Amino acid sequence: MNRDTVIVHAGYRRKSTAGPFLAGPQFSSTYSSPGDPAQHPLTYGRFHNPTWTAWEDALGVLDGGEAVAFASGMAAVDAVLGVTLKAGDVAVLPADSYYAIRRLASTWLESRGVQVRLVPTSGSDHLQALEGATLLWLETPSNPLLDVCDIQALAETARARGATVVVDNTTATAYLQQPLQLGATLVVASDTKGLTGHSDLLLGHVSTTDAGLGDALRAWRTHHGAIPGPMEVWLAHRSLPTLPVRMIRQCASAERLAACLASRADVAAVRYPGLPQHPAHAIAARQMRAFGTIVSFDLATRARAESFLGALTLVREATSFGGVHSIAERRARWGGDAVSEGFIRFSVGCEAAEDILADVGAALEASPPTP
Ligand SMILES: Cc1ncc(COP(=O)(O)O)c(C=O)c1O
Repeated sequence: MNRDTVIVHAGYRRKSTAGPFLAGPQFSSTYSSPGDPAQHPLTYGRFHNPTWTAWEDALGVLDGGEAVAFASGMAAVDAVLGVTLKAGDVAVLPADSYYAIRRLASTWLESRGVQVRLVPTSGSDHLQALEGATLLWLETPSNPLLDVCDIQALAETARARGATVVVDNTTATAYLQQPLQLGATLVVASDTKGLTGHSDLLLGHVSTTDAGLGDALRAWRTHHGAIPGPMEVWLAHRSLPTLPVRMIRQCASAERLAACLASRADVAAVRYPGLPQHPAHAIAARQMRAFGTIVSFDLATRARAESFLGALTLVREATSFGGVHSIAERRARWGGDAVSEGFIRFSVGCEAAEDILADVGAALEASPPTP
């Protein structure tokens, strides 16, 4: 069966089961469970929830593994770092990862006695950094610079040296990229973004084909209480059948926007893995189904970037990405990323491409570079 069809039905009840296609969210902190708890499939809401189970079944189908849902992407990241690393270990992380992950590494991980080595996503520094490492963390395409690395090649090298390989798949989503098939041990994602796509919830998940790691992640979630709310999970699952149509449209529009921006003399450093001039375009073409929903570019100065964002009439100025509504932001306003003051991260939504292009074109004309 076509993968798009599989996704439309993932985790939904089968045709032969009467009732709603997707059961409503189950709100229960506790369950009637007299006597021996081991005799009851459901006992307490921090341990399990049928709404999570249906969602995790769906995520498992998407990733090709066993999935564990978490309250946010960072809760999922935290769980992976927590179950895979101990004092004395060496972790190789992207120097250009989502900045909160680097912050977590330089504070919490290092205070637990883990040595952290930061390596740029692009380039050839991974090999040397892997010397004695127990964990390799990849984020491809990276957020917000959209650099790309070769998951299969790096996973092969790292696993041959005994390291656990983790891929943060947030920017691509499981629709565009399947890291477990490319040799990763674990895939982690913020489902707050494109996977659910409606900017109405925060969630995260981890998938793996290693049953021991799956159990450890579930135990971490139970003991740390990093559990997702049933309403968020149900909303996410409700959004999943439209993932293929959303992604196909958003990626096609992002390609058009990137090409249009790249053709303009007043826009510099357009970054999009789908552009032939992207340094890792060939790798992206090999490991991704399409090139993603984010386009980044540089308007040189803070003043021009702010003027551009203010001149957009359709596209909102907001953080995050992957949703059905186009949004953009000046990334340097947060600090933490190696980007210029005029660097824009643009998340392409589901609006008609010509309307997005017209809004961007008009806003650029209204905010010309200062001579
Ligand atoms: C690549 C990446 N990983 C993880 C996260 C964390 O996700 P959340 O905000 O759902 O905690 C983000 C958030 O932007 C992200 O971009």
